[in-house]
Amino acid sequence: HLVRKLCVAAIAILVSSQAGADDDLMNAARRTFKPIPSVVPAVKDNPVTHEKVELGKMLFFDPRISASGIISCNTCHNLGTGGADAGPTSIGHGWQLGPRRAPTVYNAVFNVAQFWDGRAPDLKAQAKGPVQASVEMNATPEHVINTLNSMSDYVVMFKKAFPIEASPVTFDNFAKSIEAFEAVLITPAAPFDQYLEGDPNALNVQQKAGLKLFMETGCSSCHNGINVGGQDYFPFGAVERPSTSLLPTADKGRSAVTKVASDEYVFRAAPLRNVALRPPYFHSGQVWSLKQAVGVMAEVQLDAKLSDKEQNDIVAFLNSLTGQLPKIEYPILPTRTETTPLPST
Ligand code: HEM
Ligand code: HEM
Repeated sequence: HLVRKLCVAAIAILVSSQAGADDDLMNAARRTFKPIPSVVPAVKDNPVTHEKVELGKMLFFDPRISASGIISCNTCHNLGTGGADAGPTSIGHGWQLGPRRAPTVYNAVFNVAQFWDGRAPDLKAQAKGPVQASVEMNATPEHVINTLNSMSDYVVMFKKAFPIEASPVTFDNFAKSIEAFEAVLITPAAPFDQYLEGDPNALNVQQKAGLKLFMETGCSSCHNGINVGGQDYFPFGAVERPSTSLLPTADKGRSAVTKVASDEYVFRAAPLRNVALRPPYFHSGQVWSLKQAVGVMAEVQLDAKLSDKEQNDIVAFLNSLTGQLPKIEYPILPTRTETTPLPST
């Protein structure tokens, strides 16, 4: 009888210490990460209204913004494929191969700054870049404005989105509308969000093991906060320089922005939300397997050799970062008119 009592007590201690360890893990995770909200976030200096979002959506999908008339934001940030293109690096105007992989537009609103090197402070500053970049859309603000003014449906929509402005069809308002649409591109309710909100069963045993490793190995010292990254800058190759195929020598990263030599090969810690949806990985887009990307990171950032099981556990955790994608209905765009600029090569 006594033996049975002792056994029951021992099991109770084991169970409660396991429960204690589970609580510790959840508390540590809550201190390190934040869930994606289910409501659209506010954007600085740009109230997100229904009218702006609808206009921004059309602009995001309208290829006539580009000089060729065939490249839209969605070409490189395809909302059906994780908000990025097929890779490795983006192909833009005249089939030119750009130097970097397209980062996802999903949850980009939560990043501290935009681009792999953080050179754009926010999404409205960012949206003006690709339109004009010769390797992306190769257009001018005048081309965009002439194109939009040539279709009266667009003019009406700008008036509705910016009701107090006398001449609202401007490049600034173009960028603000796109920013408002991008604020809607958030992906809440991932299993990891449900876990952070207090449901211990939202992650399975392997995902919890992966989360523990992710924190204890040191990944979360760089990949933390709401986007599990996207908050700060670090050398790609903190302890060991990756191969030149992963880190081409010509792209010096953040030093081109700050002009500081110690920022050479420094990049924004990549946001890992929905990372499983959008191989290939790294700014060079050369790694097609998430497991391999995890192995590379452990080696070059932390000098850690992870076992096969540990890598699989971390990948299982990263899979729990896939959230619910917003339902986006493909917009029907206004028909061109006689004054719409013709495509150019
Ligand atoms: C970066 C949006 C057009 C390729 C970005 C980012 C955003 C964005 C928000 C930063 C994301 C982040 O840093 O996490 C847009 C919008 C576009 C557009 C609104 C239309 C106006 C394009 C096109 C291409 C492209 C057409 C390909 C030809 C890229 C690349 C980067 C990027 C390669 C990373 C550049 C770098 O880090 O230097 N875009 N994009 N984008 N986009 Fe786009
Ligand atoms: C990129 C995971 C540790 C900084 C990435 C990517 C993954 C990842 C999957 C690619 C994401 C994408 O291409 O969208 C991990 C894991 C880690 C870890 C599992 C732990 C084993 C770290 C640490 C740092 C760091 C400790 C900072 C010292 C970065 C940076 C990038 C990145 C800067 C962007 C690299 C580039 O320019 O392409 N990480 N990471 N990571 N991570 Fe980590």
